[in-house]
Amino acid sequence: MTRFKIFRFTPELDKKPWYETYELEVDSNTRILDCLHIIRDNYDPSLAYRWSCSHGICGSCGVTINGLAALACQKLVNHYVKAEEIKIEPLGFFPIVKDLIVDMAIFFERMKNIHPENLFEINPVTVSKQLHQSPLEYSKIVDAIKCVMCGCCTAQCPVTKEEEPEFIGPAAVLRAKRYIFDTRFGDTEERRQIIGEPHGVWSCKTYWRCTRVCPKGIQVTQNILDLKEELKTQ
Ligand code: SF4
Ligand code: SF4
Ligand code: FES
Repeated sequence: MTRFKIFRFTPELDKKPWYETYELEVDSNTRILDCLHIIRDNYDPSLAYRWSCSHGICGSCGVTINGLAALACQKLVNHYVKAEEIKIEPLGFFPIVKDLIVDMAIFFERMKNIHPENLFEINPVTVSKQLHQSPLEYSKIVDAIKCVMCGCCTAQCPVTKEEEPEFIGPAAVLRAKRYIFDTRFGDTEERRQIIGEPHGVWSCKTYWRCTRVCPKGIQVTQNILDLKEELKTQ
């Protein structure tokens, strides 16, 4: 039997959050997302959580499992064999909508600010032909391209969570790095200015927590350090 302790909170009904415990007989290779499905289907249909692809692509099933942000569809019961129980809570930092669902509007807003429509300045003539990129140029952005915008890094970052909530967060900085280093775009000066403003890249204190939790294995902190170095050369 595996014990699951699940965070529950319906803001319209509950004065404060509470936890519900479930004992499930599940194979150790069962995904945490499937455990949530079992709980919802067999014990409580009102349990709210977000998911879509079930394969680590859509980035929507981010939760906090035993204190660390993760995608529920990527984690298995056996990843937590040493723990007494598997505690599932919503992602940190973001406001709670219900149970394990958080409101990520601020996350997407900050991502969008790094990449507004009017920052694209690709020459249409160039686009109609080919956007050339050498293997070396590609190697500088390939890691950041893997981001699925799940918000796990931002939810785990101590700066965003505890010290400076206005910090745009590691995912937005990573996005800026990806476009600033992408030689196919000609808009880097404007984006460099945005990322260099207060609560931008310089608010990162290199705690490495984002890198620890990123479900795509992106070296988030190293990318941020690379961006800082690049900006210093201006
Ligand atoms: S490295 Fe920077 S962005 Fe990542 S967790 Fe630490 S402070 Fe936050
Ligand atoms: S950098 Fe990693 S943890 Fe952060 S949003 Fe992208 S995929 Fe998620
Ligand atoms: S359900 Fe899509 S990433 Fe987990």
